[in-house]
Amino acid sequence: MAQPLFRAPVGTRDILAPESARRRRLVRVFADLAERSGFGLLESPVFEDVGVFQRLGEANDVVTKELFEFFDKGEPPRHLALRPELTAGVCRAFAEHRPVSPWKIWYSGPQFRYERPQAGRYRQFEQVGVETLGTDDPHADVEVISLGVRFYAALGLTRVRLLVNSLGDSDSRSAYDAALTGYLQSRRGELSEQSRVTLERNPLRVLDSKRPQDQPVIAEAPLMVDFLSGASAEHFASVRAGLDSLDAAYEISPRLVRGLDYYTRTTFEFVADALDTAQNAVGGGGRYDGLVEDLGGPPTPGIGFALGVDRILLACDAEGAFAGDPAPVQVFVVDTVGGQSAAVLCDWLRQAGLGADRAFDGRSMKAQMKRADRSGAVVAVIVGPDEQAQGTATVRDMRPGGDQHTVPTSELVAEVSRLIAAAQPRPAIPQHRRQDRD
Ligand code: HAM
Repeated sequence: MAQPLFRAPVGTRDILAPESARRRRLVRVFADLAERSGFGLLESPVFEDVGVFQRLGEANDVVTKELFEFFDKGEPPRHLALRPELTAGVCRAFAEHRPVSPWKIWYSGPQFRYERPQAGRYRQFEQVGVETLGTDDPHADVEVISLGVRFYAALGLTRVRLLVNSLGDSDSRSAYDAALTGYLQSRRGELSEQSRVTLERNPLRVLDSKRPQDQPVIAEAPLMVDFLSGASAEHFASVRAGLDSLDAAYEISPRLVRGLDYYTRTTFEFVADALDTAQNAVGGGGRYDGLVEDLGGPPTPGIGFALGVDRILLACDAEGAFAGDPAPVQVFVVDTVGGQSAAVLCDWLRQAGLGADRAFDGRSMKAQMKRADRSGAVVAVIVGPDEQAQGTATVRDMRPGGDQHTVPTSELVAEVSRLIAAAQPRPAIPQHRRQDRD
């Protein structure tokens, strides 16, 4: 009976080499920048008590529609959810461990949201991010935001814009919410059906609508900046001055509303102009000065961001930035006399710190050479009956016009190292294009 053919669940993907290596390298670039800026790695669970995420907004889609929830096998069972983002878990960890403030952490890992999948929008996606808890110093905002700016630049992206806004503190917010709700109610009839529903649940999020019908209403809506309290306005001015002093270019975006409900004061988003507008947010963040307290901790201000790795790589592809890695395999051992020589020579080469690979299953010389070529190796080492009899190996330079010569196996590692040091690395062929089997 034919077995069912399983596929990766909708909204998830297998990421094969060499793309997977490129993603890991991107995370290393981020980690390096974050650690040089005093952020330490936090590894937190992929699932949490569902209550941790309910603080993201009781009327928010991320909580009401997109959580992957489940019950464990405990007695009684615990209600858990896969994390849709990391900030709430970080605040839970802060409340649990009470580390010394300011607590500066970075993270990377998969997040899960039951969204409608499309290009750049997945149900499992990866984020990198930082959070600084325990200070509301505007310099902390500037440090966080500029880290994001420098990261995109380090990848070679030139078409990422930074949008900033302030959502004010709770005093400014209640005055603004009242004004906004009054205004939107007065023009309710002109709004799309979806926005009329959003208006009942969370008026602020109406401003986030991309539907053309809503745009004239949104364009004339009152602006948060006009309702900021003195303290919030001063905080926002200091953040802007700090960004100016670092020459970090930004645009004030008075209608910028983030998709999660915990934000106060500074909010920001990074948009990639190389991507379609529907999925062009490659990162975002802001202050969440009440979240730790909401999760049972002491009053603790916080600021951070998360950047979407999947979308950043799409933006890199669109801009031709952050190209793939050179092939990790530098030398390929072709053995037509049973495979034992390949085992020994690969072991020597790997111990010498070189990237070495081989074929299996006693394939023909032609098939093994094809594999050698596809591996991206700059050197092929060939052991056939003659070489085996003489204790030698043939070393072939795989570059166009490269020659070949024979060396005693005792000199092989030195000879291969010499050739590799002199050669430019070659790219590996993506695994998903290796359809023909050899
Ligand atoms: P967020 O805006 O929900 O914020 O997500 C941050 C980034 O994750 C987005 O800009 C986008 O690049 C990426 N992203 C979100 N959803 C998806 C998806 N379904 N598929 C692919 N990429 C996606 C947060 O998550 C906050 N925790 C950020 C933060 C940190 N605020 C303060 N600290």
